[in-house]
Amino acid sequence: MRVIIHPDPQSASIRAANWIAELVRRKPACVLGLATGSTPIATYRELARLHQEEGLDFSRVTTFNLDEYVGLPPTHPQSYRYFMDENLFREIDIPPQNTNVPDGRALDFERHCEAYERQIKAAGNIDLQLLGIGVDGHIAFNEPGSSLGSRTRIKTLAWQTVQDNARFFGSEADVPRMAITMGVGTILDSRQCLLLALGSSKADAIAATVEGPVTAQVTASALQLHRDVVVILDEGAASQLKRREYYVNVESVQRELENVRSANQKNNQGPVG
Ligand code: F6R
Repeated sequence: MRVIIHPDPQSASIRAANWIAELVRRKPACVLGLATGSTPIATYRELARLHQEEGLDFSRVTTFNLDEYVGLPPTHPQSYRYFMDENLFREIDIPPQNTNVPDGRALDFERHCEAYERQIKAAGNIDLQLLGIGVDGHIAFNEPGSSLGSRTRIKTLAWQTVQDNARFFGSEADVPRMAITMGVGTILDSRQCLLLALGSSKADAIAATVEGPVTAQVTASALQLHRDVVVILDEGAASQLKRREYYVNVESVQRELENVRSANQKNNQGPVG
C-alpha cells in the first residue's frame, strides 16, 4: 500500500481528485468505481471544477457506484443515486447512461446483483475504485464479518453504520437497514484502489487497515492483498499509524525520483550533437 499523508482534509481531497483526473486524461474511456458519503464530497467538487475550468473531459468515462440503500427510489434525497447526480454527475459532461448505481428498488435483488457484476465485466472491469472507510473498517457496505471473497449482494447494515448515517436522515429510525453493495471480491478485482479517509474518527480503522492483520472483521484490511492500493489521508486519519514517519519518507524519496526523471527527460530532449 502506498500511504500519502496530507496536512488537512482539503489538500487530501484535491490530491484524490488529481489522482482520478490523471487517469481520465491518460485513458479518456476509463471505468471509475465511485463512493458516496461525506468523504468524497470535496473530491467531487474539485473534479467538477477541473471539468468546468480546465476542460477535463468525462464524456467517455463509465462509472459504477459501490452501493445503494434497499428501498430508496433514485428521487429520494438520501439515495446514493440522488447523491451522485447532485454532487458530481450533473456538474460534469458524463452521459447519464454511462453512470451505474445499484437499484434500491429492483424487483429481484439476486438477479439485479448478478447483472451488476456482469455489467462491470462487460465494461472491461473497474480501472480505479474510489473508497471511503467506515468507523468499523468497512469498505462499501461490507460490514465486519463479510466474506473477503464476496460479490455484489444485499447486506444488513451494522448498528454502528446505522448510527453513523443517521446524521443524513435525521433519525436512526429512518435509516434503511439493508443495502446492495459490491463485495470485497468485486472491489479487489479493480485494477487500482484509492482509499480516502479524513478525520480522526477514522484513525483506528485506518491503522487496522494498513498495519493490522488481514481479517474479515475489518474488511478494508483485505486491500493488503491487492497489488495496487493508494491510501490518501489527512493528519487526523493518519494519527494512529505506527509507521507514519516511514510513509512520509517514502513519499519524499518518490518525489526526488520524479525530479530526477523529469531532469533526465529534459536532458534527453536537448539538441543532439
Ligand atoms: C459509501 C460507502 C461507505 C462509506 C463509509 C464512510 O458509498 O461505500 O463505505 O465510504 O461508510 O462514510 P463517510 O464518508 O460518510 O464517513
